[in-house]
Amino acid sequence: MSSTPTLSPAPPAGAPAAPTPAALGELARAVAGRPDRWRPAVRFDAAARFHTRLEVTGGHEVWLLTWLPGQGTEIHDHGGAAGAFTVVAGVLTERAFPASGGAPRARELAAGGLRSFGPRYVHEVVNAGTEPAVSIHAYAPALAAMSYYAELPGGGLRPVRTDPVTG
Ligand SMILES: [Fe+2]
Repeated sequence: MSSTPTLSPAPPAGAPAAPTPAALGELARAVAGRPDRWRPAVRFDAAARFHTRLEVTGGHEVWLLTWLPGQGTEIHDHGGAAGAFTVVAGVLTERAFPASGGAPRARELAAGGLRSFGPRYVHEVVNAGTEPAVSIHAYAPALAAMSYYAELPGGGLRPVRTDPVTG
């Protein structure tokens, strides 16, 4: 029997397919549902937003982040990684910047809220609430570098710098 040619080559034997944003969302939710895996790592740091890797594999990694009121990120991408995050305590406010350059979309995520995104996603996340917040993040591949951006007065973004990710 002849085989049917395919347009895209099969992945190398033993190489798992890269997790999709939806799969990363399921992973973040699964870790969030196991407080024994993240609660012992929770710290709050008034000097700098706290973050720590909970697990890293060849294909993905999971981080715990904590956010005191007023703490947040700069506008950033994820260096080509896809990702997802879910809130386990408090409320986070996200502003996502469309690739088209249009106005950012803001949304609040309370405990149980989830965002999943592809490799070109640019956003800012802030604890604009009055209570400390905790979130679980999953990325694939593991974060290697992130670029940061500044908003232009008339809309759109300007790249500011790229930093390696250490954890
Ligand atoms: Fe992010």
